[in-house]
Amino acid sequence: MTEYTPMKHLPAAPGYKEGDLFVLFGELFGRGYATGIVDEARRAGMTVVGATVGRRDNGGGLRPLTVEELAEAEGNLGGKIINIPLEAGFDLEPAADGLSPVDRLKGIKPDDWASVRFGEGLLESSRQRGIERFTANLQRFVGELTPLVPAGGSVLFVHTMAGGIPRTRLFMPLLNRIFKGTGDKYLPSELFWNSELGRFCQLNFNEVTGDTFGRLLESTTPLRTAVESGGGTVRYVAYGYHGCGVLLGGEYVWQSYTPYVQGEAKMRLEDIAVEATRNGISAAVYNCPEIQTNSSALFLGVELSLYPFLTALVREGGGPVAEQAWQDCAALLKEGENLPRMLARVDDYLCAPLMVSYREFTGWPQHNGKEQMAFMLERSQELMAMSVDQKRVVCAELSRLVFQGVGRLMFDDSWAPQGPVLWLNHDIIARRLVS
Ligand SMILES: NC(=O)c1ccc[n+]([C@@H]2O[C@H](COP(=O)([O-])OP(=O)(O)OC[C@H]3O[C@@H](n4cnc5c(N)ncnc54)[C@H](O)[C@@H]3O)[C@@H](O)[C@H]2O)c1
Repeated sequence: MTEYTPMKHLPAAPGYKEGDLFVLFGELFGRGYATGIVDEARRAGMTVVGATVGRRDNGGGLRPLTVEELAEAEGNLGGKIINIPLEAGFDLEPAADGLSPVDRLKGIKPDDWASVRFGEGLLESSRQRGIERFTANLQRFVGELTPLVPAGGSVLFVHTMAGGIPRTRLFMPLLNRIFKGTGDKYLPSELFWNSELGRFCQLNFNEVTGDTFGRLLESTTPLRTAVESGGGTVRYVAYGYHGCGVLLGGEYVWQSYTPYVQGEAKMRLEDIAVEATRNGISAAVYNCPEIQTNSSALFLGVELSLYPFLTALVREGGGPVAEQAWQDCAALLKEGENLPRMLARVDDYLCAPLMVSYREFTGWPQHNGKEQMAFMLERSQELMAMSVDQKRVVCAELSRLVFQGVGRLMFDDSWAPQGPVLWLNHDIIARRLVS
């Protein structure tokens, strides 16, 4: 179990220089966390290279990007993408008998989810084949990357992969009940997690969110050795999540979104960084705040702990950045609403007696509760409804600020990490932005 180790001081400017290599391990989406660190790399004049997860064709096969898709992805990244599909996981991977886990779930009714059994060894067979495919593609990826490494220069790998929800219709109604269900629709995440389907989800999350980092470290060992023997350096960073310290009743307090079912996979990621650091590799996981991205859209309520970031900006020094953020956020509100009232409603939620037992660091990640879900979802909707346009809400604005601050902190700290696992809480991010 990792110790809670928040980043305490702002890292110094790193030594990356023009022509050094920045490798984004995962695809970049418009409002994703990685946007922040890619901007930093570009500003430093590094050569930006990216990856793709590839796409599934109509027959279900995994393929590289088409010419058009590649052009769009490279335009979005502002750099070359090595067009080898790096999708991880095994939900669509045929086992020895030719059927994938998702094939086996076809025709099962949502009400019968609890009685699903995959059959001895069949999940494991798909998992192994998924690992073989991913590792083989990763070898080819590294092969194409190697000639791009500057002699005697620095290489920074940024792991952003997370996901693994099995892509089958059966899952959506179940996950909607776990993450968004209240009253009769509420489904205890614990019940689901202890089922065969839950176990399948867990295994797939571990592959995508956790083990891809270990496989990256392993596959790049020859590259790392070659770079280091030529006087260069190789570093690795990854985006983690393990709750976050935010202002709650006027103090910075650790809290978490519940139910964060990817928690075990994220702890694997931390363990991989700890082990690599022990072996003399520069690897660090940065546990980041809850923000709104493509990946977090399913987790309604995850954004609640983001609102107090506005107060953190003032607490950590204020000034033009904080003032601008307050103005921009206030401009998004409906007539008659205001930010102090919004923040009071968030504080009332975060400090409520019902939420106290969900703030136990050692018990993380916790399962949901019926009352907790109803409270979280209702408060989430109430606060969202304070913005005029549901496509431009206050927490979208705050998400942008946070991924910028996080990008800068990770980029700077990666040069000489303060530890293998660090929490980027609201205080340090706000301090980075206002200073
Ligand atoms: N959004 C949040 O609140 C939050 C909080 C803390 C940490 N993070 C972490 O930040 C990182 C980026 O996430 P984001 O929220 O910006 O969302 P995002 O959707 O922009 O990024 C998700 C990434 O995962 C990759 N990915 C998805 N499925 C994959 C698969 N099967 N195989 C390989 N790669 C796959 C995507 O290509 C993409 O790079 C993730 O590690 C995420 O856990 C997010």
